[in-house]
Amino acid sequence: MTADKTPVARLTPQATGTYLRNAWYVAGWSDDLAETPQQRTFLEEPVALFRDGEGRANAVSGRCPHRFAPLGHGSMADGTLVCPYHGLRFDRTGACVHNPHPGGQLPDVQLQVYPLIERHALLWIWMGEAAKADADLIPDFSWLSDPEWEAVRGATVAEGHYELYSDNILDLSHANFVHPALVANAFTEGERKFWQEGENVFAEYVRPDDFLSVGISAVMGTEGRRQDFYGRVKWHAPAVLYFDFRAGDPGMPYDDCTLLPSLHAFTPETPDTTHYFWATARDYRLGDGAFTAMMRGALEYAFEQEDMPLIRDSHRLMRGQDFWALRPVILGGDGAGVRARRMLQRLIDREQQQDPE
Ligand code: FES
Ligand SMILES: [Fe+2]
Repeated sequence: MTADKTPVARLTPQATGTYLRNAWYVAGWSDDLAETPQQRTFLEEPVALFRDGEGRANAVSGRCPHRFAPLGHGSMADGTLVCPYHGLRFDRTGACVHNPHPGGQLPDVQLQVYPLIERHALLWIWMGEAAKADADLIPDFSWLSDPEWEAVRGATVAEGHYELYSDNILDLSHANFVHPALVANAFTEGERKFWQEGENVFAEYVRPDDFLSVGISAVMGTEGRRQDFYGRVKWHAPAVLYFDFRAGDPGMPYDDCTLLPSLHAFTPETPDTTHYFWATARDYRLGDGAFTAMMRGALEYAFEQEDMPLIRDSHRLMRGQDFWALRPVILGGDGAGVRARRMLQRLIDREQQQDPE
């Protein structure tokens, strides 16, 4: 930021939700951002994503300081972002570098710039203080960009608060009821364990010597065979989850079981809507298009047609009320979800005490 420019104030000081700001959020799949800029909303702030002349991914405020047009709906010229309304151009530092109108004087403005890093096939955005954006804090999802693994994936905007979506992954006991074709008994009837390590929360499900569902057996190639099954979820604040899902013939050592690693990353758009990025990978039948399509179809159906409508409806029934104020019943499967909610609240409280708005 140059000293002679007046920064545009934070765009939504009246955000209605409470968020952890000093954290990495997933902003999109890296290769979904091509020559065309994108307009997104993260934590209620409009953000424009674009690639500059060198192909670097950038994130700046998505609201033009002239008449507030969505800059992400603009175009690119000479590596700069062109406002779709009256054509002001901005570079990756947020500076206005071109005014196409008679006189052509550059307005004294500076767009907010958000740290953005491309890693593990994803775009990671930092919505807090840029000076605190430490790339080492990005969780390890290296399998997403490892050629030995082939992933199916999705990106969608889901209705519902992002913590309800984290709850859903941390409490897989919903599987028998919501996804009977996909996983069945393993999660609902398996032995569960929940714990915390540092700022991470874990949920583990173990089910030895049982039949997995028809759907998951088809994906793992174990139709009609009994299997030992292990599922472990690791939660990273605020809502990025790794799901390690393994199965093998009864008695097979854990490390020899077939692994299906998954990502579930939730980035709040508003208090009522969430960007949902998911992926599941395999290290067998690589390049088998029909198999990939079957796997994608099964998972997309589970997440987008089974989980999302239920969470959407639950969110609507909460009518904007605080989760704890509604005095939710706590069941045996809630051990990780409750820990994650408390941890996130602690982190948000700590951040706000250190840096009151
Ligand atoms: S609104 Fe962007 S140049 Fe006018
Ligand atoms: Fe689910």
